Amino acid sequence: MGQSQPTHTRKKNSMQLPRAAAAAVDIEPQNASTSNSNVLLEVKGLTAVVTESRQEILKGIDLIIHQGEVHAIMGKNGSGKSTFSKVLVGHPDYEVTGGTVIFKGENLLDKEPEVRCHSGLFMSFQSPVEIPGVSNMDFLRMACNARRSTLGLTELGPLEVLEADLAILDEIDSGLDVDALQDVAKAVNGLLTTKNAVLMITHYQRLLDSIKPTYVHIMENGRIVKTGNASLAKQLEEGGYRAIADV
Ligand SMILES: Nc1ncnc2c1ncn2[C@@H]1O[C@H](COP(=O)(O)OP(=O)(O)OP(=O)(O)O)[C@@H](O)[C@H]1O
Ligand SMILES: [Mg+2]
Repeated sequence: MGQSQPTHTRKKNSMQLPRAAAAAVDIEPQNASTSNSNVLLEVKGLTAVVTESRQEILKGIDLIIHQGEVHAIMGKNGSGKSTFSKVLVGHPDYEVTGGTVIFKGENLLDKEPEVRCHSGLFMSFQSPVEIPGVSNMDFLRMACNARRSTLGLTELGPLEVLEADLAILDEIDSGLDVDALQDVAKAVNGLLTTKNAVLMITHYQRLLDSIKPTYVHIMENGRIVKTGNASLAKQLEEGGYRAIADV
């Protein structure tokens, strides 16, 4: 009941589902009357600390991702975007201290990182990436395999990466020129179906021109403080974070 929009959007009764943006990725956005059977990821009140220092970084994240949706997370440096994605894949630097994460109907936090990867959660870590002459799919596969190799797992072939149900892409646009960015966008758009979803972290509107987000979330100080459609990213591009501070 009323679960299909993230709780933080419900605070503003004027918030509408971004139909235009959703149409651009060829999906139909869900509304409150649909069942929850197409929920891929449900994060509630997630809090996490740095394992070593016990410093709290995530301070209560709520997020629901349905099949077929593209979610973008934006936010200032240090707001907790990468930490959130690393906590989702089970990075040992962080310890979850509260909240729940349900992925495909199961408690994700119970599972070892390699099990999470196997269950269809795929993540590319934020890093300066160079992909001269590397095909799109190889890029995504390389990212997944970097993760697998740190886990001592065998590498995935090109088609196996396509089986990810939720791809978390942390600043895949960082360090890419316009052409490479288009290639990556094409690869990501090629991955999208009505059954899977993408959670991408970016600082720049330009990526969202190519990979149309269903929702754009703004993270601040370990929380998602605002959710909107693609126009939120445009506002941000034009006026910076100050421009959306009291929208
Ligand atoms: N392993 C860690 N040890 C200590 N502090 C950490 C660790 N990971 C994250 N932090 C701190 O948590 C905060 C959030 O970091 P995070 O990397 O998640 O931010 P971000 O939103 O991804 O920033 P950026 O846009 O620069 O990538 C920062 O203050 C960072 O210094
Ligand atoms: Mg980051």
